[in-house]
Amino acid sequence: MDFKNIFIVGSMGSGKTSIGKMLAKNNNLSFLDTDHEIIRSCGYSIPDIFEEFGEEHFRGLETEQLRKMNTIENHVISTGGGIILRDDNEKLMKDLGIIIFLDININSQIDRVKNRKNRPLLNNKSLKDNLLSLKKIRDPIYKKISNYIIDVSGKERDQVINEIQKII
Ligand code: S3P
Repeated sequence: MDFKNIFIVGSMGSGKTSIGKMLAKNNNLSFLDTDHEIIRSCGYSIPDIFEEFGEEHFRGLETEQLRKMNTIENHVISTGGGIILRDDNEKLMKDLGIIIFLDININSQIDRVKNRKNRPLLNNKSLKDNLLSLKKIRDPIYKKISNYIIDVSGKERDQVINEIQKII
C-alpha cells in the first residue's frame, strides 16, 4: 500500500464501521471511528450533541477531529455519514490518505437502518423520504471526493472486503 491511511465514507447503514474494523484487522492496521473519537473527547453521545448544540456544532467537531489526526499513519478511519458536507474535511482526509466510498442503494439502506435509534437525522419524516433527501445531496459529494467506489448493496461483509483488498 502506498498511502498512509484509508478513510471510509458513505451514508448511515453502509457498513463503514464493521467494514473498516475488518479491513484494519486483515491488513494489520489500526482502526479509528470519528464518531467514537468525538464522543470520547467531548463526553456526550451523538444524539445529545445534536440536541444540545445542534448539527453545525457537530460538524465543527468532525473537522476538529480530523485536524487532531494529522500525524496518524497505518490506520483505517471510519467516518460519520455527513463528514463530507464540509469542504475543509475533503482536504484534511486527502492529505492523510485515500478515501473509499461505500455506496448503497436505498432499499438495502432502509433494511440496515430501520431499527436504529441513535441517528438524530433519521428521527423526523418518513425514513425513506429522509434517507432519499440525504442521498440526493450527499451521493454526488461522496462520488466526487472518493478515490474508489464500492457498491455494498445486498453484499455480505466478506465480499465487500475482498473487493476492497483488490484495489488497495
Ligand atoms: C450522521 C451520521 C452518523 C453520525 C451522526 C450524523 C450523518 O454516523 O455521524 O448521527 O450526518 O449522516 P454514521 O454514518 O456512522 O451513522
